[in-house]
This record gives sequence, C-alpha cells and structure tokens, in this order.
Amino acid sequence: MVVTLEADVAKVHAARSAASLVQPGMIVGLGSGSTANLMVRRLGERVAEEGLDFVGVPTSVATAELARELGIPLRDVDDVPHVDLNIDGADEIDPEYRMIKGRGGALLREKLVACVARRRVTIISPEKVVPRLGTDSPVPVEVSRLGWRHVEQRLRKLGATTALRRTPEGMMFITDGGNVIIDCRFSALADPETLEAGLKSVVGVFETGLFLGLCDVLVVGRPDGAEQIVTHARRWTGCA
Ligand code: A5P
Repeated sequence: MVVTLEADVAKVHAARSAASLVQPGMIVGLGSGSTANLMVRRLGERVAEEGLDFVGVPTSVATAELARELGIPLRDVDDVPHVDLNIDGADEIDPEYRMIKGRGGALLREKLVACVARRRVTIISPEKVVPRLGTDSPVPVEVSRLGWRHVEQRLRKLGATTALRRTPEGMMFITDGGNVIIDCRFSALADPETLEAGLKSVVGVFETGLFLGLCDVLVVGRPDGAEQIVTHARRWTGCA
C-alpha cells in the first residue's frame, strides 16, 4: 500500500471525528496502529483542554504506554463490565463492512475489546476501502509459538500462502500475548465467514485478523474532513 501525505491528513480527520464521539463517563476501547494513535492523542488533548473524564481500555502495550503519557486513566478489559465505545483502525474494509486488521500485530486484544463493546467505530483513510478482502493485505493469524510450524502446515492445507511475520531485524515477531503471527494470503477470499470458521478450527490458532460484523460506524477521513457512516452491519455471533 502506498502511504501518501493525503492519507496521513485523512487519518487525522478520521481520528478527530471519532474522538468527538467520546462523552464524559464512557469506557472507551483504544485501538492500535497509526490512526488509532492519532485518536488517542486527540483524546489526550480533550483531557487537557476540557477535563474530559473517561476510562480507556487499551488494545496493546504500545497504546497503553501512549495513553498513560497523555494522562488518560486506563483499565484492563477484565476490569470493566463492558466497553461503551471502541475506536480502532483497519487495514482493509469491504462493502459489507467486513475488515482485515492486525498489520500492527495487536489483533487478539483488538478483537477481544471490540467484542465487548456496545458500539464499534472504525477509523480509516479512503484507500483502506476495497472491493474484496485480501486485495492488498494478508490475513494475519495469531498462533502458538510452540508448534507454529505444524500450525503453518495446516493453514497451507486451507489454501493459504504463508509467511511467518518477522521484525525489520529478521527476528520472529512476538505479539503482546507472547504468540507469533503467520500472514496468510488466499488466491480468492470470497467467503470470509467460512474462512474464519476454518482458520479457527485449527488447533494452535488463537485469533485471526478477519473482523466480521464488528463495525457499527465507519469513519472515513478525507483531505478536507471526515464522513461518519452508520453501517447497520450484521453483528458477529462469535462475541460474548
Ligand atoms: C493493529 O494491530 C492493526 O489492527 C491496526 O488497527 C491496523 O493495522 C490499522 O493500522 P493503521 O491505522 O496504522 O493503518
């Protein structure tokens, strides 16, 4: 994906628009990645400028560190009864508001927090909208570090071309949960629901980057503002 200055400006607009949805007293899921970081920074400004009082539930160690620096009070997902509003980015989103997430490697916690949220807001720049999932992004699959080679073989049998995710230095990428990620490409990703079920049936797979039925509001940033779309997307039955 080519990241342009325009996309960066669009991310800022999307992030600010979504941050304006946070109201005093809310429990807010704080997503991960560059767009979510901009949203967290905007919330930090609102805390400083207006004294906005809310609690954040971070979806990664990196987001928790950023939020803490900005003076945002935090709770772990297990310490809240629910999340009122979850705001997170995405790598791709299709016309049915199904998404691929996890380029940053935080997919497990991102999905856990999204699943306990009453309202899920996705913030993106326009190039993230694709006609079909898998157009540009692989599907990240978080798997057990122990036995990952065997899990990878099973994923290949499901039709995936696989690559173990590595750091820029060539080391195994280890998630916040101590697992590894296998990025999976499929020649035709026509039925994400069936694929999700197939991937989750493999022993050693903890989570996938397919986020289906987890976008209630889509905020698309543009060079000159942002558009909020209420999706009415079918809710995902896999959530508690
Ligand atoms: C993090 O694991 C991801 O799910 C991100 O939310 C996603 O990759 C979008 O990131 P950017 O906002 O940096 O494009």
